[in-house]
Amino acid sequence: MKSILLTITVICTSLLARAQQKQPVYLDLSQPIERRVENALSLMTTEEKVSLCYAQSKFSSKGVPRLGIPEVWTDDGPHGIREEVLWDEWGGAGWTNDSCTAFPALTCLAASFNPKLSLLYGQSIGEEARYRNKTVLLGPGVNIYRTPLNGRNFEYMGEDPYLSSRMVIPYIQGVQSNGVAACVKHFALNNQEEWRGHINVDLSDRALNEIYLPAFKAAVQEAKAWSIMGSYNQFRGQHCCHNDLLLNKILKKDWAFDGVVISDWGGVHNTDEAVNNGLDLEMGTYTDGLTTKGKFPYSSYYLANPFLKGIKEGKYDITLLDDKARRILRLIFRTTMSQNRPFGRFVSPEHSEAARKIAQEGIVLLKNENKFFPVPSGKFKKIAVIGENADRSLVIGGGSSSLKVAYEKSPLDGLIAKYGKDHITYSLGYASGPALYGREEPSKLNADSLINAAVEVAKQADIVFFIGGLNKNHFQDCEGGDRKSFSLPFGQDKLIDALFKANKNTAVVLLSGNAVSMPWINKVPAIMQGWYLGSEAGNALADVISGEVNPSGKLPFSFPKKLEDNAAHFYGKISYPGDSINQFYKEDILVGYRWFDTKKISPQFSFGYGLSYTSFDLGPLSSDKKLYSKSDTVRISFTVKNTGAKYGAEVVQLYVHDPVCTVTRPVKELKAFEKVFLKPGETKTVEVRLKVADLAFYDETKKNWNVEAGDFILQLGNSSSHISQKLKITVR
Ligand code: BGC
Repeated sequence: MKSILLTITVICTSLLARAQQKQPVYLDLSQPIERRVENALSLMTTEEKVSLCYAQSKFSSKGVPRLGIPEVWTDDGPHGIREEVLWDEWGGAGWTNDSCTAFPALTCLAASFNPKLSLLYGQSIGEEARYRNKTVLLGPGVNIYRTPLNGRNFEYMGEDPYLSSRMVIPYIQGVQSNGVAACVKHFALNNQEEWRGHINVDLSDRALNEIYLPAFKAAVQEAKAWSIMGSYNQFRGQHCCHNDLLLNKILKKDWAFDGVVISDWGGVHNTDEAVNNGLDLEMGTYTDGLTTKGKFPYSSYYLANPFLKGIKEGKYDITLLDDKARRILRLIFRTTMSQNRPFGRFVSPEHSEAARKIAQEGIVLLKNENKFFPVPSGKFKKIAVIGENADRSLVIGGGSSSLKVAYEKSPLDGLIAKYGKDHITYSLGYASGPALYGREEPSKLNADSLINAAVEVAKQADIVFFIGGLNKNHFQDCEGGDRKSFSLPFGQDKLIDALFKANKNTAVVLLSGNAVSMPWINKVPAIMQGWYLGSEAGNALADVISGEVNPSGKLPFSFPKKLEDNAAHFYGKISYPGDSINQFYKEDILVGYRWFDTKKISPQFSFGYGLSYTSFDLGPLSSDKKLYSKSDTVRISFTVKNTGAKYGAEVVQLYVHDPVCTVTRPVKELKAFEKVFLKPGETKTVEVRLKVADLAFYDETKKNWNVEAGDFILQLGNSSSHISQKLKITVR
């Protein structure tokens, strides 16, 4: 009996001991995402939840190692996958497996007016990000092109809210189809680099809603972006990375955004606002990991220990922490922990092909007197190629979008491949100074000698291609500063004049992300806008110059004749760049072509403009009815005919005007576009649908969108300044 009792006691004690031992905790991965998020959250300590909310290195943040929840790895964006950098520093880590494909800059993508290419772009760059094991791609950017001086315009999609909305959606969908989160940036009103860290922007609610928010809204509501980046600047007195109105009210409440708000690097300034005003993940706050005494300096971030302390002291409600942690967990389950995440690929031939195609379709032919272009191979024996941009890397520089690439075909490479080495003579013509961050250094080369040498080459040639523009140096197309002048830099205007004097057969090819002044415009017979075209730049340019590809790009922003003609500059300093503390967008909704058309100022080249090697006719414009109710969809149709002798594509654009309204309406607002590809002689009928609701303006008295009954004029054309047909419809 005694021994039986002893045995029972031993068994009970060991069972008890086993029960008291901690059981391993496993995540339940069999559930739909929202349940997995709640399950993970329920297993986490307060410390673990807080540790999700701030960086652990320059580009990564912690996971929950105890639960097997992986770290979040972000990377720029938006034109290729940025090289690995050191843990605590911006400098490259020197890996040898991270040289990427450079895709064309987003201005070029926007100029293609082709949403299908935007999907291809997103899929391809998403594959590269996935292969490099990134959780979040820091892009695309959709800040509106407000002034040609903004150093970062090349990373954005132009001046029109509708165009950038339509183009940003497929990019995001393509990226996210790879199980990589897109991070739309910079939310919001980061429309200049000058004083970007503190300038306090104000504008009307109407301009905010009609011009500056639509692309972000489309990214959130239509593309379902999984993350968004707050911008550096302030809006109505609060930094945008912790701006109550932008993040809590508009983004999270009105738009029902369920993703993660990530700060721009170093864009967070205080804990109370960061906790309360909608920020989820703090990145890049200025610690280099070495200057703070603590073992782990990141723990002094605003959303790190100060946040934890505030929670423990009851200053911050735990629901605020849970909301942030829930969003970050959701992002991880959507990406790294998604069970059907593909594997991606890197620097594949398909990516080169995609980059080349996007570049070809984005190039814009601006002027083409006497059919200067195309220049078929074999037509000329002696071709002069002049200009620094023909032969310099344009993927390096520009700030955070700078890339280490597997290869880059320069324009000179492309032209040599197309026309043959023996037919091309290259001369530098002008030289930029060294790329020093923070100041513009003049080149040590003598400008006059460079011009003289180029002129000699031009004199001997049958034809001259001048390839210049801006570059990615500070104060050019580069983050962290705006351009100092609207003119072409490094003496290029003088050089172009001299080249034209030496040889009338001179064309200008500009590589830039911005409009520039063109004092020589009436002299030169041909001008091409080539953007920053990425790895395949030279091949794509040569394809278009030689006529193997017919140009079909259209300008995603207006080129003013002079800077003062641009709306932001018209109202003086308080409008741009501000008084160093505050800035007011005085032009209101009249941005870009809305300004030029409404104020009857003619631009140098208008929004939506671009020539082709063939010609097109737009046939009669008709609508399914004449009278519509406010909930209707208008069905509009017209024909497009290729009346020339070459295969090509026309971007047909539909603008709307509301002539009688209680508020000023722009003379034109883009509401639909279609890129139509046609063989010579071919005609296609195009139907576009337009919701009457999309004719609304933002009514400040109602704090909502409003369509007033009355007549609306539909305007069909192939640029904002070339309308070939109009049609009146009535809304009751
Ligand atoms: C830029 C962001 C970028 C981040 C990380 C910031 O300076 O504004 O666009 O994603 O750095 O490189």
